[in-house]
Amino acid sequence: MNVDRRVWLNGDWVAWQDATLHVLSHAAQRGSLVFDYMSVYQNPQGAAIFRLPEHLERFYRSCELIDLHLDYDPAELTAAVIETVRLNPGVRAIKLNAFIASIEIDVVPVDDEVHVAIAAYDPKADVLDRKSKTTPARAATCKLWIEKEIHNRREDIVSPQAKVSANYVSTMGAKARARSAGYDEILLVDEFGQVAETPTANLFMVDGEGVLITPPVNRVLLGVTRSTILELAAASAVEVREAPIFPDELLRASEVFLTGTTAGVWPVVSIDGGTVGAGEVGPVATLLQERFETVIGGRDPAFAHWLQSV
Ligand SMILES: Cc1ncc(COP(=O)(O)O)c(C=O)c1O
Repeated sequence: MNVDRRVWLNGDWVAWQDATLHVLSHAAQRGSLVFDYMSVYQNPQGAAIFRLPEHLERFYRSCELIDLHLDYDPAELTAAVIETVRLNPGVRAIKLNAFIASIEIDVVPVDDEVHVAIAAYDPKADVLDRKSKTTPARAATCKLWIEKEIHNRREDIVSPQAKVSANYVSTMGAKARARSAGYDEILLVDEFGQVAETPTANLFMVDGEGVLITPPVNRVLLGVTRSTILELAAASAVEVREAPIFPDELLRASEVFLTGTTAGVWPVVSIDGGTVGAGEVGPVATLLQERFETVIGGRDPAFAHWLQSV
């Protein structure tokens, strides 16, 4: 796939098709690839990266959790991300990667140099639209399936806080099966039976008293959109609580929605085939979706600091 984009690789620029990895590399064979993914909004004022410092902080934390030692400091990576967006006009997303590229025979690499690659691209135009097969466009509302066999990432295996490629593979088959059964997304429950997150989004519910609840951050990935929604809810006088949620509470919720860099604020209208609340997008989701859109569109001066102009 030849895409006219330049990728930042260990301080140099390489063509998109040259940003490759050997099949026997440690990253491919043992899953030692940490990443973070953030949005670039093409606003009337120009391109803006959403919450770059928070994404970088999570990237460093993920690396630390799996013992990848980065040679670059946050200021160097901040400058590299901004430059990558500048050099690739019209992009909508950035993927920041750290990985062990060397060919190894053991789980502990002999050559433990951590490579860093930054790719900025348009997920639709540069990736999806170039496939020979099409996937259905994401609906405005989500039909959710509570996954019954696969559990969420476990603290004692690979922390749910680490955005590491190996942490995602268990959900590949489970999500594909749910899709074939007509659902849009799967919700993972943890080993204690508590609701956690979807493969790439956090979950919120509104209870009978109108309180917005999301699972505690030690059980799920610290989603940047999750933090954003918690702040926007507080600024909108919506009462918020971080607390464990069990599936039966979720099934009684008046509203449920997902949050993520790709999902944005995605209202859930049914779970396991049963309707959530009135089966329509509820008032809290509508309010927060609108506030989020205003912020990312650069129209809310109170949160302008979340947008890094390029
Ligand atoms: C496991 C998991 N949970 C939640 C999220 C949402 O995080 P963010 O809002 O930072 O995109 C992601 C993002 O991909 C994720 O991988």
